Amino acid sequence: MLVVAKPLFQAPKGTRDIFAPESGRQSALISAFADAATSAGYGQIITPMFEDLGVFKRLGEATDVVTKEMYDFETRDGKTVALRPELTASVVRAFVQHRPGVPWKAWYEGPQFRYERPQAGRYRQFTQVGVEALGTDDPHIDVEVIALAWRFYETLGLRHVRLLLNSLGDPECRPAYFAALTDYLTGRRGELTEQSQATLDINPLRVLDSKREPDQAVIAEAPLMVDHLTDEAGAHFTAVCEGLQALGIPYEISPRLVRGLDYYVKTTFEFAGDSLSAAQNALGGGGRYDGLAEQLGGPPTPGIGFALGIERILMACDAEGVFPGPDQQPQVFVIDVTGGEEALVVTDLLRQGGIRVDRAWDGRNMRSQMKVADRSGAALAVLIGEDELADGVVTVRDLRGDAGQVRIDRASLVDIITTRLEDPAADSVPTGEPS
Ligand code: HAM
Repeated sequence: MLVVAKPLFQAPKGTRDIFAPESGRQSALISAFADAATSAGYGQIITPMFEDLGVFKRLGEATDVVTKEMYDFETRDGKTVALRPELTASVVRAFVQHRPGVPWKAWYEGPQFRYERPQAGRYRQFTQVGVEALGTDDPHIDVEVIALAWRFYETLGLRHVRLLLNSLGDPECRPAYFAALTDYLTGRRGELTEQSQATLDINPLRVLDSKREPDQAVIAEAPLMVDHLTDEAGAHFTAVCEGLQALGIPYEISPRLVRGLDYYVKTTFEFAGDSLSAAQNALGGGGRYDGLAEQLGGPPTPGIGFALGIERILMACDAEGVFPGPDQQPQVFVIDVTGGEEALVVTDLLRQGGIRVDRAWDGRNMRSQMKVADRSGAALAVLIGEDELADGVVTVRDLRGDAGQVRIDRASLVDIITTRLEDPAADSVPTGEPS
């Protein structure tokens, strides 16, 4: 890759250019998630990358995502829109607009935009995969949703993931809890940081989400939602816990887990990657948002979902040495020293046969083409010189082992190379006449 000392332009702060093979690994991860979600009955939804700002305001007036991190702007016709900072609000907006039959289960993938302070694992444009399930408050769908994420991490090979679980109660138990929490926090207001004092006036629950050191002593003794659940909310939470136990999915009750968005009720959860440092270990999270459809102008509709950050997941995969991603190197490299036209035809033939093939350009000599072939990582080279051209054959050379080379008929080229690639343990180059 050409490194330019001082480029005129660079990718905006907090964004990345992703080259192969990393880009292929990212696509493979998304495709593995698509398979998992599809086989669990979720259909893909694709929504616009920007929405009316009002859609995202529902994420919470006291959340950083809304107050500090929104990429919002006025369009030419005077409307205020924002690049999506997450997908739940967009998906629920689409649900309310189109009213698919319920239960409705959708999965998604795509970039999100948050004006955050960039650091390792935190970007201004990042990619999420996720699911949303609307129209049922059966606690077992909570379990299904959580299990989908859990099994996905397992499929990737991740072993050091912890599931943190909490209940944020429902509209019946929240007022009493809010009153208790507000009383408690107001009593200790002076000990809180200035930011948390301001948050207290807007949404006391969000104070529990503060990571600022001076707030921690107050938070540690704050009343907990799980101690204020109504019978109904408590029974829902118990059913979720029992469902997870039935599936053998380990979890930790995390009674101060609040999450960074305001729409949550009842079940909330996060996945912590223990191979990463605390600042970047949130590999995903989600929960119930039973009031969101109504807030967006729809009928009362329960909903639950999660989103996983794929950059974070790939960092965890690196740390655990798993999910290397698909092989993207060419399997075969075609070398043609007769002018290049043969290479054109032979690469096309091999590609039609489903083989990954590359070749050299600019009519270089044999030595320089061989160098490129070696660097390409291909297992086999197909050589075409004047002799081969005259005899209507090609020479196949083993680039990795010591199996030498053979001349073979063009007509059997695809079959022979396919067999050889499928059986790399075979200790000789394809059957054919040794040259
Ligand atoms: P969230 O916790 O804001 O939830 O984001 C989910 C995941 O996205 C995080 O756990 C993290 O892996 C990743 N993520 C968030 N911000 C960044 C960033 N700046 N850079 C890199 N990765 C990031 C939601 O977005 C909810 N919509 C989840 C949900 C779906 N709840 C219900 N349904």
